[in-house]
Amino acid sequence: MAGDKMIKIGIIGGTGVYDPKILDHVHQVETMTPYGAVSYKVGDFEGKSIAFIPRHGSKHSIAPHLINYRANIWAMKKIGVRRILATAAVGSLHLPMKLGDFVLVDQFIDFTKNRISTFHEGGKRGVVHVDLTNPYCDSLRDKLLTVGKDIGLEIHGRGTYICTEGPRFETPAEIAMFAKFGGHLVGMTNVPEVVLAREAEICYGTIAMVTNFAAGVSPNPLTYGEVIKIMNQNTENLKMLLMNTIKNIDIEADCNCQHALAEYGGFKI
Ligand code: HPA
Repeated sequence: MAGDKMIKIGIIGGTGVYDPKILDHVHQVETMTPYGAVSYKVGDFEGKSIAFIPRHGSKHSIAPHLINYRANIWAMKKIGVRRILATAAVGSLHLPMKLGDFVLVDQFIDFTKNRISTFHEGGKRGVVHVDLTNPYCDSLRDKLLTVGKDIGLEIHGRGTYICTEGPRFETPAEIAMFAKFGGHLVGMTNVPEVVLAREAEICYGTIAMVTNFAAGVSPNPLTYGEVIKIMNQNTENLKMLLMNTIKNIDIEADCNCQHALAEYGGFKI
């Protein structure tokens, strides 16, 4: 098995994705970061060594607003990860994005309230203003879309993700407002994860999976059970999408995302 230094691809599993089911020789590792310890799994797939972090913990015990986003991304950077594929369960505000569909998010609108979304809070690390014109890695998005279409998934190449603070679901009035703002999907975790990945100069792509129509779009009250049910029904598709995309990733390829802080002399760890 490749040593941890060789890990170039990371997977962050969202709701319903707690196990790196595609990996062989999986073992648990812990690493320290300035934000605390991070426990992750490492395994092999197609000769590539891959790190896996279940965002909510392996038993869904970490609420979206309490996830240690900075520690997770720092840990990925520290072990050498250059590309992250993240999964996310989302509610749909946009009828063409239906239950079970995959959406490759390309924009977000941040409605979180209480999260630190930078590694640079002044002092020794300074202050940076990272560019998010294209917040998600275009190259990963293109790969995911090509693979998703090839394997016959219902997959959308773009979508705007509204990130709420959670952990509660939204009110129908909030959802109506988000739709007017141009949102297509709603979830609770993409911000600050995507922002921190960009600061850390790691390519980041989100595979969002529609698990429900958002509050008020659906006539029925929302339940966490329905989210999990749809997620579980689609596990095989998600696995296929991940496996075939990872096969196609050139781990050494350069990308603009990996130079996001060039103006500041690069990301320092
Ligand atoms: N709202 C917020 N987060 C979600 C939803 C939702 O409807 N579905 C899955 N995650």
